[in-house]
Amino acid sequence: MASFLGWINAVSAVLMGGIYPIKKKMTSNKELIPLYRIVRKIHPIIGSLMVVIGGYHGYLMLGGNLRLHSGTLVWLMLILMGVVAILGQAVNAFRKKWRPLHRTLGLLMLLLLVAHVIAPYWLMF
Ligand code: HEM
Ligand code: HEM
Repeated sequence: MASFLGWINAVSAVLMGGIYPIKKKMTSNKELIPLYRIVRKIHPIIGSLMVVIGGYHGYLMLGGNLRLHSGTLVWLMLILMGVVAILGQAVNAFRKKWRPLHRTLGLLMLLLLVAHVIAPYWLMF
């Protein structure tokens, strides 16, 4: 069960990044606009679910004792991405600036995820 949740989250993490190429290609290919509208709606919902499922997966994997671990770093990145997206939309001064930060954190999260899957115990306290 806990492994399964980890994999659901890992696959979602990769798919979530798909919003970027869709957005880029949409400017020249108008047929992608309806797809973008759907993705734009579900992206924050799946992102929030990933935070919950990631936390539950980690809690189960560590036998109910959630602590600093390679997976905790992945999880913190996910939380940070959510916070950046929420603040970015709520605070006027960030409105034009938050997306590159959200993207960079996404890349960092994916790298940490690869490390977490290849060597889960590279960081463990
Ligand atoms: C944690 C919860 C998350 C929330 C609340 C969230 C929210 C958002 C929102 C509102 C947008 C703007 C969409 C737009 O302007 O078209 C966005 C864009 C994006 N998100 Fe997320 N997201 C989350 C997690 C993720 C994850 C896990 C990834 C995967 C790596 C990701 C990758 C991206 C990318 C690549 C963009 C496009 C940025 C751009 O337009 O330059 N997000 N996100
Ligand atoms: C609270 C944070 C997290 C903790 C403490 C944690 C902990 C762990 C542990 C202990 C394992 C088992 C390693 C082993 O013995 O083989 C594991 C596996 C895994 N984790 Fe995490 N994890 C966390 C977050 C995440 C997140 C956010 C993702 C995905 C985005 C993820 C994806 C995976 C995957 C795919 C596996 C391999 C499952 C398997 O094949 O058994 N984890 N995690």
